[in-house]
Amino acid sequence: MARIPVMAGNWKMNKTVDEAVDLVKQLKSSVSGVKDVEVVVAPPFTALYAVQREIKGSSIHLAAQTLFWEKKGAFTGEISPLMIREAGCEYVIIGHSERRQFFGETDESVNRRIKAALGQGLKPIFCIGETLKEREEGKTFSVIERQLEGGLKGFGEKEVLPIIIAYEPVWAIGTGKTATPQQAQEVHRFIREKVGRLYSKDLAEKIRIQYGGSVTPENVKGLMEQDDIDGALVGGASLKSETFSKIVRFREI
Ligand code: 13P
Repeated sequence: MARIPVMAGNWKMNKTVDEAVDLVKQLKSSVSGVKDVEVVVAPPFTALYAVQREIKGSSIHLAAQTLFWEKKGAFTGEISPLMIREAGCEYVIIGHSERRQFFGETDESVNRRIKAALGQGLKPIFCIGETLKEREEGKTFSVIERQLEGGLKGFGEKEVLPIIIAYEPVWAIGTGKTATPQQAQEVHRFIREKVGRLYSKDLAEKIRIQYGGSVTPENVKGLMEQDDIDGALVGGASLKSETFSKIVRFREI
């Protein structure tokens, strides 16, 4: 079964509401007519609703960048799965390395967030990846294994199917230092095999695994040529419609 590539733009803490609407307007026209690629944008919370209104009826899907697991209550500064869904999101990024690094997220809290997202019918984009130190110490696969087992703990096969796994080596994020297609493929293969061992071969073949970390129009093709790379989670290059639409149109490069 062919997996449909999914290209997601993680805008991180960038774009005011006006800027976000401008960008998505441009994007709508620059990716129109692209077939067999799913396009997702993840604006900051403040712009979700306005972007949702703009992309209605188009083929662009909306994601939030994180969520909190409780439904409502006294959790100042947090945002619930229900609120995110109501703002028009279909996806939610969970466990991004910046959240693990700067906001204390752990495999356990990531697991709770994924559970809450699934409970509200949101599809998680579940991020994993090793740091430079871990790679240099030869721990890449054990870190990936721990993050996968921790993040997916307690879920059955049906729950895992809508999840997109994003492999983002921390050393490649925002550094301009992309993993080579071979380095990325090696880890993607490992992830798919691990999903196969945890669940089934069938699920492993179906689940989509994105690569993230300094993806650009220049390197996307080589990455997408790899058997186990099913898309990209793009930071910097997703902030301009010109570069992001080229990534979405990787087949035309
Ligand atoms: P960059 O594409 O800017 O390296 O960011 C990658 C990323 O963190 C996407 O989530």
